[in-house]
Amino acid sequence: MLKTRFTEAFGIDYPIAQGGMQWVGRAPLVAAVANAGALGFITALTQPNPEALAKEIARCRDMTDKPFGVNLTILPTITPPPYAEYRRAIIEGGVKIVETAGYKPQEHVDDFKAHDIKVIHKCTAVRHALSAERMGVDAISIDGFECAGHPGEDDIPGLILIPAAANKVKVPMLASGGFGDGRGLVAALALGADGINMGTRFCVTQEAEIPESFKQKMVENDERATDLIFRTLHNTARVMKNAVSQEVVAIEKRGGAKFEDVQHLVAGKRGLAAMEHGDTDGGIWSAGMIQGLINDIPTVKELVDRIVAEAEEIIDGRLAQMVHRYAEAAQ
Ligand SMILES: Cc1cc2nc3c(=O)[nH]c(=O)nc-3n(C[C@H](O)[C@H](O)[C@H](O)COP(=O)(O)O)c2cc1C
Repeated sequence: MLKTRFTEAFGIDYPIAQGGMQWVGRAPLVAAVANAGALGFITALTQPNPEALAKEIARCRDMTDKPFGVNLTILPTITPPPYAEYRRAIIEGGVKIVETAGYKPQEHVDDFKAHDIKVIHKCTAVRHALSAERMGVDAISIDGFECAGHPGEDDIPGLILIPAAANKVKVPMLASGGFGDGRGLVAALALGADGINMGTRFCVTQEAEIPESFKQKMVENDERATDLIFRTLHNTARVMKNAVSQEVVAIEKRGGAKFEDVQHLVAGKRGLAAMEHGDTDGGIWSAGMIQGLINDIPTVKELVDRIVAEAEEIIDGRLAQMVHRYAEAAQ
């Protein structure tokens, strides 16, 4: 039994979440996470339109009677997707938990809260966590520099960011970025978090609907197999190191690069096509440093059970023994 403020507030068995993941956060994975006793999020923008999102929510509900959520990622794009309509699909779909991420979530948070929906805001800085808390969110997910996707521009790893946030944030908090096993979960709890959020590790499970070649590549990769792209554009993203990410980094290194200079390499369509063809060198793919600790492709249930059992064994076994042994020696 591993109960925390997070499991209590969100009505789940284990303090583990599967954050929103573009092209990965679909109903079968999310339902598997829910059925394993953790909290999964359908990724709203993976669906081509709000109607498709409504269907995906219904599909997920057919696969589980446990709580699950939807991630709404607010991107700073010139032509934004119809956020208000996606939001409506979430509310009308009867979803009770939302993970927001990205820029200026206020109007979304206000609307979700007005409909009695619990909101977890994912961010990468203590100041952003506090601002989300002031907006009235129910929990924070704080992403350290290790994470896949957007780690922000401050470059603060979880070892510092999590306790720094825990010192100030009052609502329950998930530690995110670089988690994948029981040791990480115990470390997160020790640093002041109420649970962990994982992305990359959940990609490498049986139920994640991505090609085997991608999963195999993440198993083979070590902790150095990521690149930081868009550094010079101040919109950093941590992605799997491959031929395309290396080309982007090389262009940025030359200096003065504009988005247009790398657009053909990083286009979402190109990344999606590469993924659909199983071509791990064909486009950009988000993945974190935790790849170095991923050695197998378990079912979601095997993974969640293993993380929880390992965490319990560390707390009750190794750590408890350390305390007792020294206490006895001191007597
Ligand atoms: C393939 C992939 C796609 C992702 N897409 C999104 C996204 O659309 N929105 C979002 O908020 N986070 C996204 N993330 C970030 C995850 O939700 C999570 O915060 C992150 O993966 C945690 O770091 P980890 O990979 O080290 O566990 C993505 C992560 C991965 C691996």
